Amino acid sequence: TSVVVLAGGLSHERDVSLRSGRRIAQFLREADFSVKVIDVDANLLANLSELKPDVVWPLVHGAAGESGALQDLLQLLGLPFVGTTADGARLASRKSVAKSIIKANRIPTPDFALLPQTLFRQLGAKGILEAVESSLSLPIAVKPDDGGSALGVTLVSDAADLPAAMVNCFAYSDDALMEKVVEGTEVAISVVDTGDGPVALPPVEILTDGPYDYDARYNAGRTEYFTPARLDDDVLETACATAVSVHQVLGLRHVSRTDLIVDADGTPWVLDINVAPGMTETSLFPQAATAGPGRQIYADLVTAALA
Ligand code: DAL
Repeated sequence: TSVVVLAGGLSHERDVSLRSGRRIAQFLREADFSVKVIDVDANLLANLSELKPDVVWPLVHGAAGESGALQDLLQLLGLPFVGTTADGARLASRKSVAKSIIKANRIPTPDFALLPQTLFRQLGAKGILEAVESSLSLPIAVKPDDGGSALGVTLVSDAADLPAAMVNCFAYSDDALMEKVVEGTEVAISVVDTGDGPVALPPVEILTDGPYDYDARYNAGRTEYFTPARLDDDVLETACATAVSVHQVLGLRHVSRTDLIVDADGTPWVLDINVAPGMTETSLFPQAATAGPGRQIYADLVTAALA
């Protein structure tokens, strides 16, 4: 079976994606697949028509890789691929859209407001402060509505820091999501479906000495991980059921990762969903796979895409 892994691209997470792509290629070669990694650029169509893969694994993080654009193209070409279809990616990659659907399904997610950059320009810093203070209490996290790896994310405890957080965020997205901070244990739960329905892999607990930012994510040793997370069994069960529900209500396919905060009462609050979760040496999905089904899961996902 020939597999093309699509990686790179022009998003802010280009380097992460190239690392993810190389690692998945290595896992699949160990399982005897014939694998090529393509850096996504203007030659994509030509490359795909020359290579004629049996199956594609899109691993471009952020931007076109998770917005549904790349998945639309693969669907138009009729190429089987691993992961969520374009429709699911469109819903999951916009945090505000995903959170609205999650909330409508009575799954807990922290309160939020969305601020387009155009409105920020109209209202100015003072107007924004008034608007935020009337709808959300500090601290809040300011995040690009689309995009990942914590790029452009700032925690704001003091209203005076809000304008700078917004400007930083708008370097990554046209829309800022302002989300109420929930204190608790940060946990990432990967969900896989190889044909028998979605199943949660062991939850990974994330322990950082500061924010879980880009450096803490991709430099080995900066963050401690515990798999399974050090929470009571019933709390873990609820968190896993939540991640599976998120996968289902957003209509996701094969693989997803939901990042949550579990508060002191054991309630899992959904923060973010990834349809092309990172697969680097320090990423969360591979740690969950190691603690759970092992490397066979990568081959099983490719087989599921071909079915
Ligand atoms: N967005 C990155 C790749 C992740 O969350 O794994």
